[in-house]
Amino acid sequence: MHIAENISLRPFNSFGIDVYARSFAGFSSTAELTELITGSSIFTRYPLLILGGGSNILFTKDFDGLVLKNELKGIGLVNEDDAHYYIKAQAGENWHRFVLYCIEHNYAGIENLSLIPGNVGASPMQNIGAYGVEIKDVFHELQAFHLETGSIQTFGLNDCGFGYRESVFKKKYKDQFVILNVTFRLKKQPVFNTSYGVIEEELNKMQVHELSIRAISDAVINIRSSKLPDPAIVGNAGSFFKNPVVPKSQYEELRKSFPSIPGYTANNEQIKIAAGWLIEQCGWKGYRKGDAGCYTRQALVLVNYGNAKGSEIFALSTSIIESVSAKFNVQLEREVNII
Ligand code: FAD
Ligand code: EPU
Repeated sequence: MHIAENISLRPFNSFGIDVYARSFAGFSSTAELTELITGSSIFTRYPLLILGGGSNILFTKDFDGLVLKNELKGIGLVNEDDAHYYIKAQAGENWHRFVLYCIEHNYAGIENLSLIPGNVGASPMQNIGAYGVEIKDVFHELQAFHLETGSIQTFGLNDCGFGYRESVFKKKYKDQFVILNVTFRLKKQPVFNTSYGVIEEELNKMQVHELSIRAISDAVINIRSSKLPDPAIVGNAGSFFKNPVVPKSQYEELRKSFPSIPGYTANNEQIKIAAGWLIEQCGWKGYRKGDAGCYTRQALVLVNYGNAKGSEIFALSTSIIESVSAKFNVQLEREVNII
């Protein structure tokens, strides 16, 4: 197995941050992963980072350890019942290509998650979500490699602690497991989710008369392409912060001072506030200092216009958190993994 030394991570993170890793290796089978973990003394002396597509990471400095790039490939139907197909995808499969594969085969349920960058293996990490669907809605189980013991464990839906951009793999089991594959429970008969008004609008614009999972996917692709920067052109990691979830009473208080503050019901007692709006109201939208900026079309997205350092993007995020806190008394939490 080849372990490369002193490798630039620029091609491996969607922010395009130019930092270096002490060591770097890919693995395309569990046997290779085991060999890397047990056979490499680096692992015992330095930290380890499991890397998927690098689209939810901000490197703020060189990584003084071993980066293991997940290259496990394969997609297959593993089971079915009257209403569902159970599709297993290996962790190194590209997420959007997996979505397109499911659409081609008429496996319904993840069409609203079209065009999310990154790999299948990272999708449970933060329970990826968009346009009214989260992976918890279609999740069946996953298999993960326990780094300390080398055992392979199966996690069902109730074991994963999925929440809004949360899972046990981000908290309780942080850095303990490598997700190897994920099995999704997809519908034979589609149930179209057009609860987001923008999807309806886009479908009308596209003059779609007969709804299909392909049409929804196309609509989502159009919407996303119109407001989110393409990492191949402008470095970014999608939403940099989570949308803050606050008690209803706090939201009502805020509404007295800021009547147009957008809020969505999170549950019976809580409201999710649009962080992009809070950031825009603080004057950050379109802000740029050097190559670090707040995107012109979506204030929730921080961008690297070329040669920004991760520390500059991080410093900008701190200033944004402080100004939103000062104006609204609402605390923003970073969604992106800071390394
Ligand atoms: P990486 O960035 O490589 O890793 C993310 C974290 O997971 C790291 O901590 C890493 O160590 C860990 N990890 C990765 N793979 C594994 C594994 N196999 N086992 C254990 N740990 C692992 N997210 C959304 O939820 N909704 C969106 O709509 C959305 N839109 C986006 C739009 C853009 C333009 C961009 C750039 C990002 C967007 N994201 C969105 C964020 C991102 O696409 C997701 O978080 C995605 O799941 C990250 O996948 P990745 O493979 O790139 O993960
Ligand atoms: N808004 C502004 N100004 C802005 C941006 C947004 O006022 O610059 C307000 C508008 O009122 C808008 C509302 O915020 O209607 C919501 O904006 P948008 O529909 O763009 O969604 P979002 O809440 O900013 C979330 C997710 C995205 C996901 C979309 C669609 C989070 C942190 N982000 O963004 O996920 O794609 O909804 O479901 O929940 C990601 O996680 O990386 C990501 C891109």
